[in-house]
Amino acid sequence: MIRNILFWMLVFINYVFQIFGQVSQVSYELPAEWFRAGNSSQDYEMGLDYTIFYGKAPSGFIKSRANFSEYGFGILMQEFFPKDYLGKQVRLTCTMKYNNVLGWTGILIQVYSINGMYDDMRNRKITGTSGWKEINSIVNVPEDTTVLAFGILLSGEGTVWLDECSFELMEDAFFPFSIVNPNDGNSGLPTYPTNLSF
Ligand SMILES: *[C@@H]1O[C@H](CO)[C@@H](O)[C@H](O)[C@H]1NC(C)=O
Ligand SMILES: *[C@@H]1O[C@H](CO)[C@@H](O)[C@H](O)[C@H]1NC(C)=O
Repeated sequence: MIRNILFWMLVFINYVFQIFGQVSQVSYELPAEWFRAGNSSQDYEMGLDYTIFYGKAPSGFIKSRANFSEYGFGILMQEFFPKDYLGKQVRLTCTMKYNNVLGWTGILIQVYSINGMYDDMRNRKITGTSGWKEINSIVNVPEDTTVLAFGILLSGEGTVWLDECSFELMEDAFFPFSIVNPNDGNSGLPTYPTNLSF
């Protein structure tokens, strides 16, 4: 009897270690140009996952820590000078998978220009659980754009994986439905100097 119980305990422990081993196949070293951002980035784990990916390993992921603050967010992102997209309209498509998102998630794109656009999908928030699926966002990139930032945002509890992002030029330009803050290319900055005498 005791032998039996011991046997099944060993089987169980082995099983737990197998699962744990799989879950822990992550790396916190990001590939070149990707960085952690967001106003509560310290509340989220962000890195690469070698067990869950679309196509070939790895994928990028964001996972809320146990102590996340409710309205903050983390972003796994990168920025570039969109030399080839100036004066054009582009579509960003990424493949996403998400698990138990009780806050919200979405892909984010920000065009730094006086007529830039910012879209983090907060007007069409993604929540819940889903297998891999394509998500996209379309923005105009004015001639005077200096930076194009994009990535994945998670606010609140959940885990999100991101893989296979691509940009394509839109042939027939139209104004996207996804404009959240038009003319907000420097989102978050005051429009006047502040606290000049401390
Ligand atoms: C949550 O924990 C991380 C370390 O695990 C810490 O850096 C962060 O400041 C904590 N956040 C809050 C809101 O306490
Ligand atoms: C982060 O920004 C959101 C608004 O987008 C705000 O509600 C929240 O309080 C901010 N969190 C922190 C820690 O600044």
